[in-house]
Amino acid sequence: MILSPSLLSADFGNLEKELSALEQAGISWVHWDVMDGMFVPNITFGPPVIKQLRKISNLFFDVHLMVHNPERYFAEFADAGADLLVIHAEASTHLDRAVYEIRRLGMRAGMALNPATPVAVLENILESLDLILIMSVNPGFGGQSFIPKSLDKIRRVADLLRNEGGHAHIAVDGGVEPDNIPQLIKAGADVLVSGSAFFRFPPYAERLRVFNEAAGRALVCQ
Ligand code: DX5
Ligand code: ZN
Repeated sequence: MILSPSLLSADFGNLEKELSALEQAGISWVHWDVMDGMFVPNITFGPPVIKQLRKISNLFFDVHLMVHNPERYFAEFADAGADLLVIHAEASTHLDRAVYEIRRLGMRAGMALNPATPVAVLENILESLDLILIMSVNPGFGGQSFIPKSLDKIRRVADLLRNEGGHAHIAVDGGVEPDNIPQLIKAGADVLVSGSAFFRFPPYAERLRVFNEAAGRALVCQ
């Protein structure tokens, strides 16, 4: 079970300092929200920024691409040092080829679903996925409220994995905070992405302790 703090809520003027602080606090994953201004209204950062920060960080780079036709950039993200690329099921026409390509480039492959996208889209690609990301807000912004029906969606993904097999993590992204963590874990999530509810409350080691307490276990890679 892992906490992946979303840098969308970090200080963009001090990303080097933020990444070091996360690592020192005992965090093991970090979540990069790449936004293209088309798939979602916002624009954030891309491979050159990640590549620079890869040089100073040993964290596992969990890269969430809110980008149309993300396959255009897979090689650049691999070169930048991404460990996991999460693409949106709504953003690419040839999902099977896209996932194959991410793995061929040596990265782990994840698939994100917007709140309105049904779980059935995963059925024929399940065994190739390392992570399934359930969006519990409409993507594009930090600090939105958790959509409660996402809990049922996480349960349905967990059932699908149990019935059909597959080794994928189930991640949840959007409005995750200590108060809803027990329910999320009970539903089957094992990667918790949190932006505002994590970064707004430094120091990070203390915040991690609060998240761990809510989860009833250590939210770091063992
Ligand atoms: C939203 C992003 C999230 C975002 C979550 O589009 O994918 O990763 O940072 O932020 P919070 O935790 O504040 O909802
Ligand atoms: Zn995200």
